[in-house]
Amino acid sequence: MNILKKLTLSLAGLLVTVATSTTAMAAGDEANGKKLYTGSKCNQCHGTEVFTRKDRKVTDLAKLEAQVRRCDSNLNTNWFDDEIIDVTAHLNKQYYKFK
Ligand code: HEC
Repeated sequence: MNILKKLTLSLAGLLVTVATSTTAMAAGDEANGKKLYTGSKCNQCHGTEVFTRKDRKVTDLAKLEAQVRRCDSNLNTNWFDDEIIDVTAHLNKQYYKFK
């Protein structure tokens, strides 16, 4: 195998690696988040109006995730990390629309 061919192959491999790791870091599964959210008792203390009120507390994606975590522990839902991220993705898509 000549050196150029080798180089091309390893470059292609690198690209595949980058592509897969980007997918793995994708911002959660919204559909699953929606299911989790509707199936939980999240509406016990507040409805979805807190997500859209003018003076809402959450101003970025990290804060949204932190708040979902806080509220989840209030409820003792004990969502796993990936479930927290799914619910965060759902709320973001539906209400917050952070980039
Ligand atoms: C034990 C009561 C309680 C439950 C149950 C609860 N929350 Fe909350 N939630 C609060 C309180 C209190 C606030 C803060 C309201 C405020 O600061 O005015 C809040 C605020 C929030 C916010 C931020 C709203 C904003 O201002 O932008 C999000 C997002 C949120 N909750 C998500 C959830 C999710 C998801 C669940 C279900 C796991 C949930 N909450 C269940 C009490 C609760």
